[in-house]
This record gives sequence, C-alpha cells and structure tokens, in this order.
Amino acid sequence: MVEECQTPDFKNTGLRGMVIASTRISDVQSEASKLIYRGYLIEDLAEEATFEEVAHLLLNEKLPSEAELKDFNARLVKERAVPEELLAALRLFPKDALPMDVLQSSVAFLAAFDPDIEDTSKEASVRMGIRLIAKFATVVAAWDRIRKGDMVVPPSDELGHAANFLYMLSGKPPEDQVGRFMDICLTLHAEHSFNASTFGARKVSSTQAHLYAAVAAAVGSLSGPLHGGANTRVMKMLKEIGDKERIDGYIKEQLDAGGKIMGLGHAVYKNGDPRARILAPMSKKLGELTGESKWYEMSAELEEKTKAAFKEKKGIEIFPNVDFYSATVYNAMGIPMDLFTPVFAVSRISGWVAHVVEEKFAEAAPKPMLYRPKSEYVGDYCGPEECAWEPIDKR
Ligand SMILES: CC(C)(COP(=O)(O)OP(=O)(O)OC[C@H]1O[C@@H](n2cnc3c(N)ncnc32)[C@H](O)[C@@H]1OP(=O)(O)O)[C@@H](O)C(=O)NCCC(=O)NCCS
Repeated sequence: MVEECQTPDFKNTGLRGMVIASTRISDVQSEASKLIYRGYLIEDLAEEATFEEVAHLLLNEKLPSEAELKDFNARLVKERAVPEELLAALRLFPKDALPMDVLQSSVAFLAAFDPDIEDTSKEASVRMGIRLIAKFATVVAAWDRIRKGDMVVPPSDELGHAANFLYMLSGKPPEDQVGRFMDICLTLHAEHSFNASTFGARKVSSTQAHLYAAVAAAVGSLSGPLHGGANTRVMKMLKEIGDKERIDGYIKEQLDAGGKIMGLGHAVYKNGDPRARILAPMSKKLGELTGESKWYEMSAELEEKTKAAFKEKKGIEIFPNVDFYSATVYNAMGIPMDLFTPVFAVSRISGWVAHVVEEKFAEAAPKPMLYRPKSEYVGDYCGPEECAWEPIDKR
C-alpha cells in the first residue's frame, strides 16, 4: 500500500516577483530606491504634504484642492469618535491582550455599526474607508489608555490627524515639531504596493466581501514579525544591546550565528530604503528635543558597523529599512514598544482602503477577478491510485 508513495519537493514561491495585478496607487522602484504614490515622490510628500492630503491622494486619485481638503478634513474629524459600545467592549479585553488583536477585533466590531455595510457602491466603500481611517487612531489610543487604567481621551476637533492621535494617547497635545514628525511618519507608512497586508486586503475584496472584512485580514497580516512587527523588534534589539560598547560584540554574535540585525536589509530596495533616509535625521532631532540621544546614536553606530561587517564578511552593501529609525522615533515620542505596529496600521489603513477600492472598482479592469491561484498536491497517494478507505477499527 503506502510503500510506493512518492513525495515530491515541497515548494512555496511566496508569489515572489510575480505581477498578479496592475495598480495605479504606488510604485516601488528597487534599483532606483524610489517610492512613488500616484506619481509623487515620497520625499516630496513627506516634505510638503499632511497625512490627510496623502490619504486624499491615495483614495481619490488626486491631490485635493483647498476646498476639497477642507471637506476631507471635516469628514475625517466628524468620523473620529467610536461607538460607546466599542469602548465598553474594549474594557472587557484582558489588559495584556496584544494590541493588534484588539485592533483586528475592533474592525469587525465597527462593521456592525456602519450604515453603509450592505451598500456595494464605490461611494459607500469610500465613505466606509474614511470612517476607518479616522477611527483607527481612536481605537489604538483608546486601547492603550484602557489597558493602563486611564480615562479614554475623546478626539479633539482642533488638531490634525497625527497630532490628535498623540493627544488621544497621552492626554496632552504634542509640541508642533513632534506632531509634524508623526504626520510625516504616517505619510511614510501609508502605502507600499502589494506588500503582504495589502495583498491580503485585495484578496479578500476579490470575493466581493465588504471593506471591513478585507481590512480585518490586513490587520492580521500586518501583525506578523516579518511584516509590521519588525519596528518593535528593532527597539527590543537596541534595548538588549543596551550600550554602545556592546555593539561590536552583538554584530559579531549575530552574524556568526546566522542571525539578523533587525531593521537592516529589504526584500525590494537593494540600494537603500528612501523612507529610512527621511527617518534617520528625524530620530536624531527627536533625540536632541527629548534630551535622550542615546538610542539614535546607538542606531547610527549599529548601522555603520553592520555595513562595514557586511562588506567584509559577505562583500555586499546593506542599508536600513523603514523600521530601523522609526523604532527610535516612536520611542522618543513616548509610544510604548508594542504599539509601534498598531501605529503602522493607523497609517497603512489609508493604503489598504485605496487598494480595496481599486480592486473592486478600477475602471480599467475588465471585471473584478476572484483570486484563485493553483497549488501543487504533493501529499500521499497509495501507489499510483488514491488510498482505499480504511474503517477506523482497521487503522
Ligand atoms: C528584509 C529581509 C527579510 C530581506 O531579506 P533578503 O531578501 O534575503 O535580503 P538579501 O537577499 O539582500 O540578503 C543577502 C544576505 O544578507 C543577509 N541579510 C539580509 N538582511 C540581514 C540582516 N538584517 N541581518 C543579517 N543578515 C542579513 C541575508 O540572510 C542574506 O544572507 P545569505 O546570502 O547568507 O543567504 C532581511 O533583510 C531581514 O530579515 N532584515 C531584518 C528584518 C527586518 O528588518 N524586516 C523588516 C523589513 S521592512
């Protein structure tokens, strides 16, 4: 029976390098180290735009006029509050629940309160998307306060999206410079083409499931350490190293043991991640502002020394990715380590919504297409034939 079974190799392509759909939302250029949102360079958006302008660009395919931006901001502000029922539900979670699990549960919870949930039009998806962009910041901040036993801080109508988020977390409006830095961080993390969470959202949307179902899947995907979880691991690594004196030893230990220096290297950008180049000086400046430059300085030294060790050991260049300096930026802003990935979600929700809308409604698509790849069965057959059924008492 089973002795003739042959097991072919177990493969997993991870869909690497496969173009599975077109997008007009963003372009990630590996060799040129460029990130482009709807035609605009990330450097220009980070320098000039607010997160709200970027979210409008992603969602509505164009930068807003002054009147459009005023209207978009007002819609976001109006949607910031979350239902009392959700706050009551958050109070029922164990205080040590993982923040990404709480966020994912909240997405499904909020679906039940959305008046557009059964409306399948594009306009309804955009309305739901604006609600989710607005409410993500509120949910993440509310959960952090609830788990610490603090009063939830209701959103302020006076502050922009980024500053309001920091205000809801700490109960104090941030200094202008810090609020602006958070605004830039949200812009930098807003979109990155077919990354794992965005693809997850698009895949769920391809079944014509509603936006909340797609976003819940994306939050789950972002929670993984190979995706959104890397920024937290960078900070943990810096704390583990603890002191500049230990950097050389740490790099040697990791490289000798085939381990990873977190926050360095990128699956796509081989000549440097353009977002890291914006975050490094921000981390330095925040260190100066808070009077605690230690973590920035350690990161900078770790970067330089790892680069040198890589050159020597592997003969290749390695560069910091978006997670490397965003870890010390969030740390300097007083954000707890386990909230770094939820902060990523507070930004990336804008990209997810744009992709879901494109997946379902892009005019160029001949028709919405259900994602359904093929797999190769490498499990057992009994000889050349299917296995004969064995009754339970004969197995
Ligand atoms: C992001 C990442 C998975 C990309 O991996 P990749 O596509 O295999 O990268 P490369 O092909 O450029 O790697 C070349 C070599 O450098 C090694 N390498 C890459 N990044 C490394 C790192 N941060 N620390 C140690 N070694 C690393 C690889 O293992 C590979 O070694 P090998 O030739 O002996 O197999 C990888 O760089 C990594 O794990 N970085 C740390 C985690 C991280 O910061 N993730 C967030 C990404 S945004």
